[in-house]
Amino acid sequence: MVVAIACDHGGLEIKNAIVEYMKESGVEYKDFGTYTEDSVDYPEYAYKAAKAVATGECEKGIICCGTGIGVAIVANKVKGVRAATVTNEFCAEMTRRHNDSNIITMGGRVIDSETAVKLADIFLNTPFDGDRHTRRVDMITQIENDEFNI
Ligand code: RB5
Repeated sequence: MVVAIACDHGGLEIKNAIVEYMKESGVEYKDFGTYTEDSVDYPEYAYKAAKAVATGECEKGIICCGTGIGVAIVANKVKGVRAATVTNEFCAEMTRRHNDSNIITMGGRVIDSETAVKLADIFLNTPFDGDRHTRRVDMITQIENDEFNI
């Protein structure tokens, strides 16, 4: 599995911690930046990572900003992406099990690096439950493909 990872300046610290964790754990990743604390515009970085997931270049994605919210809004504009902002272990687990989320987003001004790594680990290692949740995820895809949205 290759993981797309990206951030803006507000998410740089937790992104760096997650990158370290992926290196240590042997998780393959593609880092779409940003790489410094200089102020940047989060839509640019979130879009790059989300596109990598939507095209299949990467199987999952982790995107960080100050709150995790702006990058989630961007990522969810990309067809095929199911991005969830997570702040605790329960939500990181459940968004895999019930929503089959392919991206999580986190906020560097909301959670610390240790928590971000823990949530990333849960996200990367929790399978989708399937069953009735497949029907609901399929309904999300149908909404995405509704002529209103095209
Ligand atoms: C940048 O200051 C901040 O707006 C951004 O990191 C993010 O929190 C947006 O949702």
